[in-house]
Amino acid sequence: MSQLKILLAASEVVPFAKSGGLADVTGALPKALRLLGHDVRVVMPRYYIVDKEKYALKRMDGSLGVPMGIMGEAWAAVYEGSLPNSDIPVYFIEHEGFFGRKGLYEEDGFSFIDNDNRFIFFSRAVMQLSKKLHFHPDVIHANDWHTAAIPVMLNTHYAFDPDFAYTGSLLSIHNLQHQGKFFKGAMDVLDVGWKHFNAYELEEYDGINLLKGGIVHADAINTVSKKYSQEIRTAEFGWGLEDLININSYKLYGILNGVDYEEWSPAIDPFIPQMFECDDLSGKAVCKAQLQQFYHLPQRSDIPLFGLVGRLVEQKGIELLAHAIWSLMEMDIQIVMLGAGEKWAEHYFSDIASKYPDKFGCFIGYRNDLAHQIEAGSDLFLMPSLFEPCGLNQIYSLRYGTLPIVRATGGLDDTIENYQNDQTNGTGFKFYDATSDALTGTVKWAVDVWHNDSSGFAQMRQNAMAKRYDWDVAAQEYEVVYNKIVEGRKSHQGTRV
Ligand code: ADP
Ligand code: GLC
Repeated sequence: MSQLKILLAASEVVPFAKSGGLADVTGALPKALRLLGHDVRVVMPRYYIVDKEKYALKRMDGSLGVPMGIMGEAWAAVYEGSLPNSDIPVYFIEHEGFFGRKGLYEEDGFSFIDNDNRFIFFSRAVMQLSKKLHFHPDVIHANDWHTAAIPVMLNTHYAFDPDFAYTGSLLSIHNLQHQGKFFKGAMDVLDVGWKHFNAYELEEYDGINLLKGGIVHADAINTVSKKYSQEIRTAEFGWGLEDLININSYKLYGILNGVDYEEWSPAIDPFIPQMFECDDLSGKAVCKAQLQQFYHLPQRSDIPLFGLVGRLVEQKGIELLAHAIWSLMEMDIQIVMLGAGEKWAEHYFSDIASKYPDKFGCFIGYRNDLAHQIEAGSDLFLMPSLFEPCGLNQIYSLRYGTLPIVRATGGLDDTIENYQNDQTNGTGFKFYDATSDALTGTVKWAVDVWHNDSSGFAQMRQNAMAKRYDWDVAAQEYEVVYNKIVEGRKSHQGTRV
């Protein structure tokens, strides 16, 4: 296959800025594509937290003019760096007014009120940068609502621009809940013309919906697991866009995320107290003891330790856990939590930790090293998500021999095999109903297996640790989709409908 030129635009990229799994994906996929021989480049905002010195970012000559409709022209500085251990260029769009703030999207739990302008600006800057670099991509790969305006811009502002005559677009939906819905005044900043403010493109309930526009205008769309690509076609998971997605299902794909095993592997993990592999789990016992010590829990090896790492938001099923916790605390188990998010949850689970100091440990905040230590030291991992487009933590857990307890939705369902279904292939425990009873029952079931079928549990650990979700597999699937997009563009002979 011939080399493709791919420009990947995202609001967060590991290691520069991360709020969740999106950054893991955008930091890893380009490397896997590069290994397939493609010319991949990445663009992201230069947030205040992106350390120019640490990453040796170099300022490009001149400034980048970014037309912002009614706001006039904005000017950006562009910095260039690269993804660590690669030759993949990463361009950082700097604008003090939009990105010179502490948070990525919010501060102290409040979204920035100008997120529409910030990400319309960023999306337009991606297009302008592409021109400035004379990099005419075969595909611009946009991710989530933050960059969903790009496919719209390609079909409007740049529809007759020869630089983009053969450029197609892919929009990856990592989470349909967040759609970039704003007051319709943003149309004047996007500046594509009010004729596009209609129920079939950008309008929804008299406001602008950027993701909706992206879905309509992208040459292809994908979600980050197969199951989620089906789920979003239903009212339960479609967040009001299910009809639109059904109409556009002819260009919808589901590509399961991969995992960067150079970062998430107990055999080479520098963050854990003792590394281990499936043939000798003594290091895992050391990790468990250290984790119990960190959370001031009794250092018992005979008790199942459950881990939970994640954003404390509704999506992650924290309300189920909040209800279930009282029954769980009656059991002889320990739970350790690492997360930040909704304030009620932060307070609630901190209170549980003070009430049950021997059973529940809670760390509110964001800590990558602790996330690794929880994966390594826990016996089981809790992910009771209400919906989960892919989910990465359960896949990391597998590699560390930490059996996930998941709700059977989205990527959780695609990546975990139930103990009950096949004891030789089982890698975790699944429940189906989004109820606290179902969660409690499944935890009890896992505890029962831990105590009464220790060889079955040990076998599942081996199964889990042997599983691989490599990025090269996912990258090949993206390659197929990119090529379809390119073919489609060629058949339009450089014109846009
Ligand atoms: P989502 O993207 O919906 O948050 P994922 O499971 O795809 O869910 O990815 C979450 C990523 O963010 C994982 O890499 C996880 O380790 C990390 N993460 C989430 N919360 C924290 C936290 N409080 N501290 C450290 N890492 C976290
Ligand atoms: C989103 C989803 C999560 C997915 C991640 C990376 O944040 O919530 O399930 O793993 O994106 O694609």
